[in-house]
Amino acid sequence: MTNPAFQINSINVREASQAEFTALNQHTNRIRLERLPDDPPIPLEESILSMKNIPPFVDVRLWAVWNPDLTEIAAEGSLALLKTEDNKHLAQFEITVLPDFRLQGLGRKLLRLVSDTAQENNRRLLVTETADRVPGGEAFMLRIGAHKGLETHVNQLRITDINRGLIAGWLSHGKQLSADFEIGLWDGAYPEEMITEVANLYELTNQQPFGEIEIEAMHMSPEQIRQMEQQIFARGGQRWTFYIVNRATGRFAGYTETVWNPNRPEILRQDMTGVFPEYRKLGLGRWLKAAMLDKVLKDRPQVKYIRTGNADSNAAMLKINNELGFQPYMASALWQIEVEKVQEYLNSHNK
Ligand SMILES: CC(C)(COP(=O)(O)OP(=O)(O)OC[C@H]1O[C@@H](n2cnc3c(N)ncnc32)[C@H](O)[C@@H]1OP(=O)(O)O)[C@@H](O)C(=O)NCCC(=O)NCCS
Repeated sequence: MTNPAFQINSINVREASQAEFTALNQHTNRIRLERLPDDPPIPLEESILSMKNIPPFVDVRLWAVWNPDLTEIAAEGSLALLKTEDNKHLAQFEITVLPDFRLQGLGRKLLRLVSDTAQENNRRLLVTETADRVPGGEAFMLRIGAHKGLETHVNQLRITDINRGLIAGWLSHGKQLSADFEIGLWDGAYPEEMITEVANLYELTNQQPFGEIEIEAMHMSPEQIRQMEQQIFARGGQRWTFYIVNRATGRFAGYTETVWNPNRPEILRQDMTGVFPEYRKLGLGRWLKAAMLDKVLKDRPQVKYIRTGNADSNAAMLKINNELGFQPYMASALWQIEVEKVQEYLNSHNK
């Protein structure tokens, strides 16, 4: 039984009160400490800007369970419904319970709200992520009957471990390809005249392995891409995008991106890297990565660690990352479960 002293409310995260924003930020940082103990907390101001700038095509529902004296959020559940033309069958969710409040049924209580709301919105499948640093996550997902569809790792490269000779070699190989390909950099927002090409580059995200997760290819519109970058910049993120163009056709061959936030100066996030199939095995992926690392070493001396997320089955990306010296930092997994199955689990508790 859940303690009746707990109060639960839903929060509109785009327009929360100052007290709600503060409590949400504190909850996030408490949970974050467990997953990423080496990292600094997210400042309140950044959290607020991030929430206020959630892309309009993402419909976020959030419920907070307050501790009995209403001073902190003991548990939080959220559901993201993407208003896109694809993946209308699924919704992403997250449930987080502070360590002191676990195993009292709060996770289950929030799961009821998450699954009812998914059902009301005609979503039949729920997807979420767990990290091995919080074993309760996996135990909970197994208990409710979810399926682990993809094993992933956050991999990390320490700047002091970078093999500068290797980068120089990859850059000089890139130079040899320069007769056929041109490399370039966008610092910040994508140029307006390139936004359709960028939408095409984003198609490369569909070529990452998703294991057994039932996810359809995502097709981002220029407008949605603008909304997503707006959120990155609003919270203080700085993005670099290196791209390669085939000189003969003017077509884009691939790209790589990093995001850095001055609130976490030592950590650089390496996001998507992709090369279209017809241009693979030429060394373009290595060239992109080497160009990015070279720029980081020269222009971001504060950075000590580069982090990236990779599916364990992504042999092509892991080969390049392993050569560069990335090491496993944290294991994580993507899970899926039918809403109907969640309801069966929850109903078995009402008997
Ligand atoms: C996962 C998490 C939300 C569970 O919250 P919780 O409030 O402790 O869960 P509940 O008390 O409602 O438990 C629901 C069921 O899961 C089981 N369970 C939860 N944590 C468990 C654990 N560590 N070991 C074994 N079983 C566990 C409970 O025993 C209960 O089973 P029952 O149906 O037989 O009674 C919490 O551990 C957490 O915040 N983890 C970090 C975030 C995360 O990984 N979330 C999961 C992805 S959304």
